[in-house]
Amino acid sequence: MNAAVDIISLSPRVRSFIGQPHQALIDGRWQAAADGKTFDVFNPATEEVIARVADCKKADVDLAVAAARKAFDGGPWPSMSPSQRGKILWKIGDLILENLEELAQLESLNNGKPIGVARAADVPLAADLFHYMAGWATKIEGTTLSLSVPYTPGAEYHAYTRREPIGVVAQIIPWNFPLLMAAWKLGPVLTAGCTVVLKPAEETPLSALRLAQLCLDAGLPPGVLNVVTGFGESCGAPLAAHPHVDKVAFTGSTEVGKLIVKAASNDLKKVSLELGGKSPNIVLEDADLDLAIPGASNAIFFNHGQCCCAGSRLFVQEKRYERVLEGVSDAAKKIRLGPGLDPATQMGPLVSKVQFERVTGFLKSGREEGARTVVGGNRYGNSGYFVQPTVLDGTRENMRVYQEEIFGPVVTVTPFKDADADLIRRANDTVYGLAAGIWTNDMRRAHRIANKLRAGTVWINCYNIFDASLPFGGYKQSGWGREMGHEVLNNYLETKAICAAI
Ligand code: NAI
Ligand code: MG
Repeated sequence: MNAAVDIISLSPRVRSFIGQPHQALIDGRWQAAADGKTFDVFNPATEEVIARVADCKKADVDLAVAAARKAFDGGPWPSMSPSQRGKILWKIGDLILENLEELAQLESLNNGKPIGVARAADVPLAADLFHYMAGWATKIEGTTLSLSVPYTPGAEYHAYTRREPIGVVAQIIPWNFPLLMAAWKLGPVLTAGCTVVLKPAEETPLSALRLAQLCLDAGLPPGVLNVVTGFGESCGAPLAAHPHVDKVAFTGSTEVGKLIVKAASNDLKKVSLELGGKSPNIVLEDADLDLAIPGASNAIFFNHGQCCCAGSRLFVQEKRYERVLEGVSDAAKKIRLGPGLDPATQMGPLVSKVQFERVTGFLKSGREEGARTVVGGNRYGNSGYFVQPTVLDGTRENMRVYQEEIFGPVVTVTPFKDADADLIRRANDTVYGLAAGIWTNDMRRAHRIANKLRAGTVWINCYNIFDASLPFGGYKQSGWGREMGHEVLNNYLETKAICAAI
């Protein structure tokens, strides 16, 4: 291991974990990729290799899907009593909390996020998701129905619905919240009684592997959860297209979401998608700016802008425009950048070289298209994938920085005159529809605007508030289906109607 990692005092358990070989989990056993190959995993703050992980491909995917199939078709999990299943889910939540510090360090090391954020948000939210879902295991219910069949006059029926697990589920997740995205996916799929093949992002597989071990420790039977680590094209694609997979649940880019739909169309397997965003965040002139300015800043800069729901298009009513622009720019200037494992760090590096190049490419395109960079606009430092928090003014609706998801700490700020239909049109003028924010003291107006926004989540006088009970997902090209809340269970359950003549 490299020296730069050492100076930030990783716990001995984390050190020992990252030093181990990282294999795939198939049928309850850790095993190397069939061809023995591995790939490197990096610390984005130093660009150094921290671990080597099994480079799984189609042969490994086939084994993992076969294990999940066997566990679903004949294993104890789908037929286990809901109470027993719930207890295992609850135990997974407990084990996450017992290992909070280790998981937070792993997350910070591999993803780059500030350790304080991983400790306060990523890990506790992941635990809470399992605890919340554990309660649903015993509350999955069908209904009884009264029939009026016109062509069988006088007949009586006993008709009811059952909610049954959908089967073998492939789950493909991204790198921005590696542990939390695994929890969002695994909590409900396990609650529903499905079996799974999970593919973490190639950039950040470590915390998902640690979580998988905790799931085994909690008593999850072999084959219920399988984890294959690998790249999108060589591992994710054969998983999404696999004929023995009943359903694919994906979080990531809209571009790959469309590929998943194509792959799943061969045999019409079910698909749910949580994709990109370009979320409007609206500050009305009567807003409390002591809340709205830090709120708008957090909306875009949290997690370095690597949030699908980032408030990346900030709209400010004319009278308050200069003050909000200045306030958010000041906040951006004050953000302390550094390695995630430095407790003083407020913003870490972007996750990878690819993302660094992507985001700095957007900054360049903004300049070339004539946007004014108020603060930031460049790389920070000479090593690591750090990008300065950036505020852009003077953008036009046809600019790439205004239209496309940047997925970095870059916000466009634009004025509006009145909170009228044209504001709603501008806020909704995007192919995405994941989230939106409204800052105002006029609650009637806030709710009227909220109703008109075409977005899966609307935050009023707050932003980035997540809870296991709040459904999250997108309108338009931001996705299909919802994560969290009881709604997420619909992603993993089939409804069977049973009709008996009596
Ligand atoms: P991506 O969509 O390529 O990767 C997400 C996951 O999909 C990873 O596990 C990856 O291995 C897998 N994947 C990639 N290609 C695949 C394929 N053909 N078949 C099956 N699985 C595949 O996202 P990437 O390239 O890391 O980031 C690019 C952009 O995507 C970001 O700049 C951002 O705009 C967006 N993004 C959105 C996320 C969200 O939470 N909605 C998360 C990550 C990225
Ligand atoms: Mg990609």
